Amino acid sequence: MTGARTAATKMTGQPTQKEETMNARRIEGAVALVTGANRGIGRALTEALLSRGVKKVYATARNPEALRALRDERLVSLRLDVTDADQIRAAAEAASDVELVFNNAGVALASAIADSTDLGQARREMEVNYFGPLQLLQRLAPTLARNGGGAVVNIGSAAGLTNLPFVPTYSASKAALHSLTQAARFLLAAQGTSVFGVYAGPVDTDMSRELAFPKTSPRDVAFAILDGIEAGQEDIFPDPFAVDFGRRFQSSPKASERQVAAMVSGEAARASRDQERPECARA
Ligand SMILES: NC(=O)c1ccc[n+]([C@@H]2O[C@H](COP(=O)([O-])OP(=O)(O)OC[C@H]3O[C@@H](n4cnc5c(N)ncnc54)[C@H](OP(=O)(O)O)[C@@H]3O)[C@@H](O)[C@H]2O)c1
Repeated sequence: MTGARTAATKMTGQPTQKEETMNARRIEGAVALVTGANRGIGRALTEALLSRGVKKVYATARNPEALRALRDERLVSLRLDVTDADQIRAAAEAASDVELVFNNAGVALASAIADSTDLGQARREMEVNYFGPLQLLQRLAPTLARNGGGAVVNIGSAAGLTNLPFVPTYSASKAALHSLTQAARFLLAAQGTSVFGVYAGPVDTDMSRELAFPKTSPRDVAFAILDGIEAGQEDIFPDPFAVDFGRRFQSSPKASERQVAAMVSGEAARASRDQERPECARA
């Protein structure tokens, strides 16, 4: 494991020992379900779950053909578009023995809020990033209760804690997911279900291709998430950027907002300078 695991452990080692013990879930021998398992963090999570000894993984994707590269006899492929209520119902029926649910599928589409054409993209972000996990939770909560409680793991983003204005509506959808995570943690505690929120920084996947920040590999992020679950850390910061971001957010949400504004302004100023003097950009 790389520095990401150590960093995450340092950051998330905040809760008391008692809290960690109550929330902790074993990966080995468990039955998991992952949305958006065909690429990026979802695929890395599926591979990490298999390598940590799960009994079974329901690997779900909009197009199950895209799961072909994942080969393991413990893997069950399911078609699941998280915005399709019928597919959610069918997947929930098929996965009646599930214990760990990973709400991973996500999209980041809009890059502005002052453009009316972005409204459709912003709505789509909400459909996939918020209503998808909400519907899955509604369908699978009774299953988790029957199976001894289990856990829900919502793959959110640092952007859900402090809005990153270069992805403003995506950040808002992840803030909605964060809020849902808090509610679910409280409401499902009585049935013994642990609810984990993951607040990742930039991860090296298709989604962040355009981002000019240092990025953590999806593999390292996936293992850090599983470490967090096994340690019972309800808020998981699975990479060095997230650890730093989370620490600043926890000490002062307002200071975090101002720091992000300064960072985005600095990036914008640098980009416009580079455009005016292209030789600097190449240097
Ligand atoms: N990459 C980052 O920097 C970063 C940082 C923080 C949080 N995250 C979060 O991590 C999660 C995974 O992102 P990623 O980086 O792995 O992105 P990615 O490489 O773009 O993968 C996104 C995954 O979501 C699936 N998906 C999209 N819409 C879907 C739908 N309606 N139903 C089911 N699956 C759908 C995609 O399936 P198709 O192949 O069918 O499109 C794909 O498997 C997301 O929730 C994202 O917001 C990512």
